[in-house]
Amino acid sequence: MCGIVGYTGERQAAVILLEGLSKLEYRGYDSAGVAVRDNDGKIEVVKAKGRLSVLEEKTNGGQALSGTCGIGHTRWATHGEPSEGNAHPHHSDDLSVVAVHNGIIENYQELKDKLIRKGYQFYSETDTEIAVKLIDYYYKKYLGTPVDAINHAMVRIRGSYALAVMFEEYPGEIYAARKDSPMILGVGEGECYLASDVPAILKYTRNVYYIGNMEIGRLGKGQVTFYNLDGDQVEKEATEIQWDAEAAEKAGYEHFMMKEIHEQPKAVSDTLRSVLRDGRIDLSDVGLTEEDIKEISRIYIVACGSAYHVGVAAQYVIEDLAKIPVRVELASEFRYRRPLLDPSGLVIVISQSGETADSLAALREAKEKGIKTLGIVNVVGSSIAREADNVFYTLAGPEIAVATTKAYSTQLIACYALAIQFAKVRGEIDDEDYTGLITELETLPDKIGKIIEDKERIQWFASKQAAAKDIFFIGRGIDYAITLEGSLKMKEISYIHSEAYAAGELKHGTISLIEDGTLVIGVLTQQDLYEKTVSNMVECKSRGAYLMGLTTYGNYSIEDTADFVVYVPKTDVHFSVSLAVIPLQLMAYYVSLAKGLDVDKPRNLAKSVTVE
Ligand code: G6P
Repeated sequence: MCGIVGYTGERQAAVILLEGLSKLEYRGYDSAGVAVRDNDGKIEVVKAKGRLSVLEEKTNGGQALSGTCGIGHTRWATHGEPSEGNAHPHHSDDLSVVAVHNGIIENYQELKDKLIRKGYQFYSETDTEIAVKLIDYYYKKYLGTPVDAINHAMVRIRGSYALAVMFEEYPGEIYAARKDSPMILGVGEGECYLASDVPAILKYTRNVYYIGNMEIGRLGKGQVTFYNLDGDQVEKEATEIQWDAEAAEKAGYEHFMMKEIHEQPKAVSDTLRSVLRDGRIDLSDVGLTEEDIKEISRIYIVACGSAYHVGVAAQYVIEDLAKIPVRVELASEFRYRRPLLDPSGLVIVISQSGETADSLAALREAKEKGIKTLGIVNVVGSSIAREADNVFYTLAGPEIAVATTKAYSTQLIACYALAIQFAKVRGEIDDEDYTGLITELETLPDKIGKIIEDKERIQWFASKQAAAKDIFFIGRGIDYAITLEGSLKMKEISYIHSEAYAAGELKHGTISLIEDGTLVIGVLTQQDLYEKTVSNMVECKSRGAYLMGLTTYGNYSIEDTADFVVYVPKTDVHFSVSLAVIPLQLMAYYVSLAKGLDVDKPRNLAKSVTVE
């Protein structure tokens, strides 16, 4: 996690660095810092514990720091508590080498012992300080270039890193090095940028380079040069980012999350249109041929967090439509489980950022075993997008709020498109069903829009739940997948304990937690399971629960059982997650708002989890 930025050019660096960090705060927000080379060539470091606003105040929005070259960091603590001392940038004692880092240095203890033997002392508890001092050590030992020194350090360091380093003897230059942590380099007229993610530099440039693993970039004024581990120059092509700068702004909404909830109809429609040609699904951009599809023996879906919940829903949909066995697994488990994979299987890795450490490791595990891989990814050029054999890009645009909404919705669309196309190519559905399903898919953006329009009712109900201690979400089949996401949304931004339960499992333990007034939310979009879930809700009510029902228009008998009901439009059963999740996103948002919490940046969380 953590966000890093860098700038070198003609403008006041600190102002640009702070602006960039404000777009990366979702990656970590327990402390922040910048290092800027002032006009006399001296490197000045300013850090502050707490949110970025504290650093902004301390530097008068960056105005207090002169100089046109600098690096910055917003932290999510791994080694060492959040404090000013542990905040980045870190530096050698004589300030000749200064750096910011995103990632984890696994062999930090061994390196620290070595450096202590060489006479180094340490002022922080971070692994980053060790990386900086290791670079400093090689720089002074071999008296070579910064590239040589960083190369030596890269060979010794185990773990992951995106590093931005300034050397006192090289004014106007920033050196970037990367292994398994995200970083992009941007180029403008006479200036260069560096950032963990695109939104940080979108306001200034759309021309970016993706730096590869174990590569070094040297940023000068308007030019980037790349080197490999041998120190040889590497040629690279710049890519133009399609996202527009406004997409990373709040556009009048109080929070990014609410803006992103409202962007769902468009994101869903854009993603769908990207694979629709003349009323049919065309996966040629994804790179899957009919032959490939016919050969798939089974599917393994691997992901983390909400993306995993998409996988749970997709498992039902793909198995039911395409009749291909699907197993869905958490990436953190998959990677160490030594999974037995069928050689003709397909591993689908779902990830908004394309950088989640466990998902990336799972992808590599599958590739190593020679299994075909497909990434469903939102961030163009991210590690998973680059390493997967095939990529289905979701077109959600930049997602800033830590709690995902629009990326989740677009991932569902990608899975539906795959399921329908797989079903058709493998002869599991006829032409009529095929067209019917696609036509129904096309109605989803409007239906989602209608649900969002009705948000005041949910706000009213949510505001009454602010004092809740526990909330339980129950459902069966696809409705269970919906509850998983509803419960996660609720707990991550409202800090209310919540659990999702397959309704049939309740009686195996969880029901003992139901007390007078405990809120139980039953999700009932699957007609064939409706009565079964109602029965489970009634069982909760008999033990004092307060019931909310979430179902489709027409199922009005739920009002006999539930105390509060939310209806969503009818759709094909396979697509009901796309609609039913919306009220649950809104509900989590409004509960968090009613509690006065930081909706976009919930405590202890980061949007992109680039460490294990
Ligand atoms: C974090 C985010 C979630 C996301 C998960 C996986 O926990 O807060 O919203 O679902 O990471 O991230 P990915 O980028 O791989 O989809």
